[in-house]
Amino acid sequence: MIKWYGFLNENEQKISEMILWLRTHENYKGLTTIDELLNELDAPEKRIIFIDKSISPNFYSLTMQLKKLDPNNFVIMVGKDLKEADIRLAMRAGMMDCINLQDDIELIKNGLIESKRHIEYLKKQEAHAPSFAQKEGRIITSSSTKGGVGKTTFAVNLAYSLQKKNQSVILVDLHLQFGDVAMFCDVKPKKTIYEWVKEDFDRKNRNVQAYLTKTYLENVSILAAPLRPEFSEIIKPEHIRELFLELKKWYDIIIVDTHSHVDDLLLETLELSDEIYLLTNGNLPAVRNTKLFMDTLQSLQLKAKPQLVVNAVKKDDPLKLENMKKILGVKILTVLPSEEKIVKKSVATGIPFVADSPKKGLSKRFTKMADACLERHASLMSNDVLIGAGGRK
Ligand SMILES: Nc1ncnc2c1ncn2[C@@H]1O[C@H](COP(=O)(O)OP(=O)(O)O)[C@@H](O)[C@H]1O
Ligand SMILES: [Mg+2]
Repeated sequence: MIKWYGFLNENEQKISEMILWLRTHENYKGLTTIDELLNELDAPEKRIIFIDKSISPNFYSLTMQLKKLDPNNFVIMVGKDLKEADIRLAMRAGMMDCINLQDDIELIKNGLIESKRHIEYLKKQEAHAPSFAQKEGRIITSSSTKGGVGKTTFAVNLAYSLQKKNQSVILVDLHLQFGDVAMFCDVKPKKTIYEWVKEDFDRKNRNVQAYLTKTYLENVSILAAPLRPEFSEIIKPEHIRELFLELKKWYDIIIVDTHSHVDDLLLETLELSDEIYLLTNGNLPAVRNTKLFMDTLQSLQLKAKPQLVVNAVKKDDPLKLENMKKILGVKILTVLPSEEKIVKKSVATGIPFVADSPKKGLSKRFTKMADACLERHASLMSNDVLIGAGGRK
């Protein structure tokens, strides 16, 4: 129900009739000070505020202030013998409508009903605004200090596992020189991140959607790496920051595949990530490098704590899991077994193994990771809501 407020002289005959009608049919509250109104502005709801034209210090500056304070404030000027010049000034200050107390009371009531209809129409329009504006996508990054440990395999299969849980997913290939996300998904992109930076980045109304490539699943798209390695040079950290902001509006999950060397681009990506998966395999050099990388990341105090994934582990690996844990000195999130047959097949066919062989142990681990990931997101979101509610009180 719309709330109505008034800074009005209730002893005035027409005003008291108007207020009587409002109190009977609507939710009206009379106010004497601005502080009383400020106390009411905690909810983002549309409200109608009557202001007597003769209010001191000045009707126009008060209207302007109220509009600036919250665009949900709709002011109706109330006065006797309103002149065209008064109305014009009030409109410039942001007034929605005016009530001339010399008018018949029935005409005044009709005016109130019209204002109410207008506000309800605005509310309905907002409710039907496209839902993408409400998304607040989360960024998940797949990283490692070495190539060939399974970053892309991980990114693509996690994307498909999350998609199965009704998430809209975009895979961003930031292995800018030799990215192969498109190949893993068996698609041939026409446009890539390179064209987005070159053509769309400086536009007032960007359209990142035009640079994405659809995969065979409706809910997974990719933003491919440049088609030639030298094109990667124009892509800078500020582009990545803006790109993520654009994609967050459209997707629940943004999965980022990366390259294996530390540079400004990778650091920017890690800084903006909500989750970081750090991949290694069970070989000693990879584990040592991973430990070094973890220490570096810790010193950067990123908002996301890197989560360790040991990939393609074989029973006969010389470095045993216990020793690996000792070297790394941190908890391992998950150990993924080596499944050469199904992984090779998935690369050859372009169908991720989580889709092609869902019953295999490796695929089940991805399903579990996707579940855990969504649980974390849900609990973070409920925390955000609680903090938000606490903050307003
Ligand atoms: N769990 C696994 N079992 C067996 N082979 C794997 C596994 N994960 C990845 N691979 C293989 O390892 C190779 C490198 O994987 P990739 O995802 O391209 O690594 P990166 O992106 O880190 O360079 C690929 O041939 C892939 O098929
Ligand atoms: Mg890769």
